[in-house]
Amino acid sequence: MSILDDTKAVAQGLVQKGMAKAVALAPDSWMPGGKPDPLIAHQHGHVGKPVSRIDGPLKVAGAARFAAEVPLEGLAYAALAYSTIAKGRIVAIDTEAAEAAAGVIAVMTYRNAPRLQPPPAFMSSQKAAGGDTLPVMQDDRIHWNGQPVALVLAETQEQADHAKALIQATYAEEPAQTDFAEAVARGTQVAQFMGEPLHNAVGDAEAALAEASVKVDATYRTPRHNHNAIELHGVTCAWEGETLRIHDASQLVAHTAWSIAQMFGIAEEQVVVTSPFVGGGFGGKCLWQHQAIAAAAAKFAGRPVRLVLSREGVYRIVGGRSLTEQRVALGADLDGKLTALIHSGVTAKTAANAMPEPFILPARSVYAAESVLLHVDTVEIDMLSNTFMRAPGEAVGTFALEVAMDELAEATGIDPIALRLRNEPENDPTTGLPFSARHVEKMWRDGMERFGWSRRDATPGAIRDGEWLVGMGCATGTYPYYRMPGGAARITLNRDGHATIDIAAHEMGMGTATAQTQVAAERLGLGMADITFNYGDSTLPGVVLAGGSQQTAAIGASVIAAYNALVAELLKAAGNDSPLAGLKPDELASRDGGLCKADEPERHESYASILARAARDTISVIAEPPMPLETQHWSMHSHSAVFCEVRVNTVTGEPRVTRILGSFDCGRILNPKTARSQFRGGIIMGLGLALMEETQFDERNGRVMNPSLAEYHVPVQMDVPEIDVIWTDIADPHTPMGAHGIGEIGITGTAAAIVNAIYNATGKRVRDLPITLDKLL
Ligand code: MOS
Repeated sequence: MSILDDTKAVAQGLVQKGMAKAVALAPDSWMPGGKPDPLIAHQHGHVGKPVSRIDGPLKVAGAARFAAEVPLEGLAYAALAYSTIAKGRIVAIDTEAAEAAAGVIAVMTYRNAPRLQPPPAFMSSQKAAGGDTLPVMQDDRIHWNGQPVALVLAETQEQADHAKALIQATYAEEPAQTDFAEAVARGTQVAQFMGEPLHNAVGDAEAALAEASVKVDATYRTPRHNHNAIELHGVTCAWEGETLRIHDASQLVAHTAWSIAQMFGIAEEQVVVTSPFVGGGFGGKCLWQHQAIAAAAAKFAGRPVRLVLSREGVYRIVGGRSLTEQRVALGADLDGKLTALIHSGVTAKTAANAMPEPFILPARSVYAAESVLLHVDTVEIDMLSNTFMRAPGEAVGTFALEVAMDELAEATGIDPIALRLRNEPENDPTTGLPFSARHVEKMWRDGMERFGWSRRDATPGAIRDGEWLVGMGCATGTYPYYRMPGGAARITLNRDGHATIDIAAHEMGMGTATAQTQVAAERLGLGMADITFNYGDSTLPGVVLAGGSQQTAAIGASVIAAYNALVAELLKAAGNDSPLAGLKPDELASRDGGLCKADEPERHESYASILARAARDTISVIAEPPMPLETQHWSMHSHSAVFCEVRVNTVTGEPRVTRILGSFDCGRILNPKTARSQFRGGIIMGLGLALMEETQFDERNGRVMNPSLAEYHVPVQMDVPEIDVIWTDIADPHTPMGAHGIGEIGITGTAAAIVNAIYNATGKRVRDLPITLDKLL
């Protein structure tokens, strides 16, 4: 259901802005005749090769220019002052001392800021899913502790930082709801996610649970998390006449341009957002207040502006993952067959957004159970709006579900992997749809063998090495395949045989440009050096979100659509004297720098020859892929089996993860080198989720108390063991290139595998994250 709702919600937004046409077509309709993508079968090209990042040398040399590094003539530097109350009004704001400070150009507050409309909702009809729709520095209202209340513009960053410290705000505080338990006691509401309630029911799960031969029933808690991409959020922006140019760190350039244009009441074409390199996104590099504030300041002062958030600033105005309190209750027969699966609980959000942490999403498809009850409630807290954070829902949902499965394994006396395989579903258990591709059993068996699972002792605390207890655990992870509407691509082919692909996509460090150059080269029958892949610019075709692990599919389908249009154009240009004369577009394939008959490769003409005969220097086409109907026909997911080994110190309680293996089933892997590091990055974030990450939110005043990497812990080099990664590499015939997303699957399942290994090592079952050493003493 969620997949459909997401695409519908996004489609709604895109149709509004005229970017997508809702065309009802057969699944796989991006390929002529609904056939699978030929790249799935063609194993001899560039796809599947471990190509090194094409932007690697630029980055190593420091020559890749990030948003906060763009030089502009007359640049002014900005710093933000943040509210220190959670709710109320600004009654006075004294900016005199700041204005008089050395180098200060201007101080902007709600009193003098240019008038702006609130940001439009993102991915949801009334309220934003991810971020919010609150006014930006337009009135005296305070909505959260940390809201920007003033911007100082100065000749240097140091002068701006100093002057902002001189600003004095006085508030009229109002009672705020900042205590989670108190909010729950006041009453909860059913969570709405992408316009639909987070609720599923199959049969009577509570009754089935009561009658089950074996049952487990427990509560699991996860704390708030904040985004900590290495690159701080920052913009460098300038008004060039009526055009606003924003150099951003973004995972959605086209959407940012569209939103900012609406806020300033100007045409979308008047806003150009570029973002060629991004130092990590994870869901956090979307639209927050700083882009609009910087653009407003540039307008206010008549100067180009750079606004780079401090690390504290990221905690104050960039939302993260919300907390969860989850119940998982499993009922099974003596053979471990699930008769009841209940996953429910509460999460917090704000009144101005629509992003409950949707932790029940994995339970919708991962196990066959005779009866199912899934339900999320929300409470509203006066805090910074939360947002997407790497596998929103799945990352913390698999923690609870997969720890519960481990508890059920122990209760039934069945090996945890055997228990999972016993509950492998035939079809999607909540939608009834067939799976497009699901090789979960192979994934588990390959992983077990590689990891040496047979060496595990099922008795907790049985293995000791000096003062260390040693244990092994496992868990499964799942993340949906999405392909959001709004894709479009342009291909321009030159007479010298060089092709340029243009699409408003993103490179956040994961290897997009590299993998997509491989795909384009193979599709066009060209060498890697014959392809230029342009992205990260809102003026390029398409509205593509680098999120939901969907960018590769969105780009892939767009490039296929453009390629099909290109083939038709080339065929027209080839005319009657070509060896291709008389053939239809879907009889053609690309090979050796030209087109040929797919089943008769010697019937070939090079692109150069076709263009020369037609006296054309270039042929350029632009096309949009059909709506992503594949997700209405199949249940589509990436899957993982995570194995880990831990050591827990009996004296200090310190847990150390010593070995991790991720075994993945994510369709065809396009580039093993970049994929492996993406999987590993996700696993490392899962390690942080299990053992370290926790936002300290002061429930008395709604203030985040640890807004720095000194006090908010993430895994560092010495925390990360050798991470082994394998995959099935079995193509999904119903996706572009046979691929599934791999951006978010790594984090899912990892926390549970670590928790389960700690239980196996110590006999201590910790159900609230993170597992700091005090919980193991
Ligand atoms: Mo991801 S949380 O959709 O960037």
